[in-house]
Amino acid sequence: MIKKGNLYYPSEEFKKQAWVNDKAIYKKAAKNPVKFWEDLAKDLVWFKKWNKGFVHKPPYFEWFVNGKINITQNALDRHLDKRKDKPALIWEPEPIKEKARVFTYYELFKEVNKFANALKKLGVKKGDRIGIYLPMIPEVVIAMLGCARIGAVHVVVFSAFSSKALNVRLQDTKAKILITADGYYRRGKVIDLKKNADQGIKKTNVKKVVVVKRTGNKVKMRKGRDIWWKELINKESNQCEPRSMDSEDLLFVLYTSGSTGRPKGCVHVCGGYAVQAYWTAKWIFDLKEDDVFWCTSDPGWVTGHTYTIYSPLLNGVTTLMYEGVPDYPAPDRWAQIIEKHKVSIFYTAPTAIRMFEKYGTDFVRKHKLETLRLLGSVGEPIDEAAWQWYFKEVGKERCPIVDTWWQTETGGILITSLPGLGPFKPSFTGLPFPGVKVDFKDGNLVILPPFAPGLLRGVYKNPKRYLKTYWTQYGKKIYFTSDGAYQDKQGLIRVIGRVDDVIKVAGHRITTGELESAIALHKDITECAVVGKADEIKGEVPIAFVISRTKKSSEVIAKEVITQVRKEIGPIASPKQVYLVKDLPKTRSGKIMRRILRKLFTGEDLGDLSTLANPEIVEEIKNMIK
Ligand code: WT7
Repeated sequence: MIKKGNLYYPSEEFKKQAWVNDKAIYKKAAKNPVKFWEDLAKDLVWFKKWNKGFVHKPPYFEWFVNGKINITQNALDRHLDKRKDKPALIWEPEPIKEKARVFTYYELFKEVNKFANALKKLGVKKGDRIGIYLPMIPEVVIAMLGCARIGAVHVVVFSAFSSKALNVRLQDTKAKILITADGYYRRGKVIDLKKNADQGIKKTNVKKVVVVKRTGNKVKMRKGRDIWWKELINKESNQCEPRSMDSEDLLFVLYTSGSTGRPKGCVHVCGGYAVQAYWTAKWIFDLKEDDVFWCTSDPGWVTGHTYTIYSPLLNGVTTLMYEGVPDYPAPDRWAQIIEKHKVSIFYTAPTAIRMFEKYGTDFVRKHKLETLRLLGSVGEPIDEAAWQWYFKEVGKERCPIVDTWWQTETGGILITSLPGLGPFKPSFTGLPFPGVKVDFKDGNLVILPPFAPGLLRGVYKNPKRYLKTYWTQYGKKIYFTSDGAYQDKQGLIRVIGRVDDVIKVAGHRITTGELESAIALHKDITECAVVGKADEIKGEVPIAFVISRTKKSSEVIAKEVITQVRKEIGPIASPKQVYLVKDLPKTRSGKIMRRILRKLFTGEDLGDLSTLANPEIVEEIKNMIK
């Protein structure tokens, strides 16, 4: 890369070969964004072309109206002519003695069809919701695509989420079938996923549970309900016609944390999502025929849906999925994988970058990482130090870094510098993708019509929440992102962080409200408050303050609160610390002042405490924290 002041630009060599190397694209797109997206959409295979690009009925909107498409036809069938024997998916298992598995496009096509046929035999119809509670194994890809093949709606639940979290999602979507596994490997240990699944389907509509054998650990199979994946698909034909889907038919529902306790099911549709997944990846990751793309996200998150699975397959490139944790059995596992599989594009989160950085440069310097040509970051703001380390130690000052801003709601990336153009400015994400219009209202990042084709169409079965969360702050025609942001003189955007009670823990989205609800379920806790505290590696970590009605010691309470959170949500949400307090700072009307608790960690001035009902408690808590 070429450095000019505090900005970086791609090398001439990179620029020359990039899909996008002329800024004129921005102007062209801005002139008529709907036409721009329509032109892009023509590159996909449609059963029937749409008759209107964009229709706006605020707060609702549609893209590619009356168009008919199937995303799997675009991700699989259309590559069979040219790329039949090319690897579509490389899967690297966590145990090092196990061999990687490779699925060519043709092999993946056949597996998806078999599974799709099996679903049909189980009585699955278009529009039915299917729960997928699988670890990072090839079957998660096959299951998702198998659903999409026949028009079933996949509802993927992150495998490290608790059975309670699974339960809420299955109840909300009334899924009749769950796909899960006997277990998975995590730092060499076998995690019994089936046990969680059995718990999670209680009091739901789930009638059949399909179980992938991954670890071979002993699991109980309930007669008439549980079926092994292998036995289910064994005799199925490997031919299954892709179902013609309306552009606006549901493709998937994916849950994410919202401002109140219950997570929201973001609704994504077939046409717009496919177009955005295809083009954003093509231009932002500059995907070319020989690329091996490694997006480290678990398919349980939107990044995994779009950039581990759909985007690379839509583009006909090879995608890599790694089953385990990136520093197991040694901190250079990820660097080894890059070398072993000749990864050319690597996309990860700042929290992972900071973790690798902490292990020291020796680990990464053991590997040349010569095949890398482009790096990406996602999930939270990447601080300058992490950016520089990523740039120097991983990208060897050669690879452009795309810092990509988006959300579960947006389906795909909306803001970033394009790799063939730049400029790249550490801690700034860049410009809105061509065809995307944004604005800054009172420091809040908002998106203007026609938005982008992949933006969510609703909150599953909850129109009120859809309206309230996204379309009330600045009216029904402006999408409210909940992020604070600003632009520099060149228009580059810096996202500061959430303006709601969402905290990003290792890139994962959790709300403090959701944590508080989980903790409040503990029978001994009368009141609690959770705030985010800055953390060197994870970006932020949750800190809980609790009031107990019993005389249990603070150690015991802390342990129980952590267990409670793990049970209700999952280990990713575990509070870093639990403080047992006598009271919480409150206004005279009884409102808990979380702002003050937050400031206790940042060292900021606490402001005027005299309006509090109990100012003395602040001093007490302050001493505790020290
Ligand atoms: C929130 C969305 C995007 C897919 C994974 C996360 C934050 C995301 C960036 C970035 C600064 C970022 C925002 C956003 N965020 N990417 N490049 N720079 N902040 O999806 O879990 O729905 O979280 O992540 O705060 O609102 P998500």
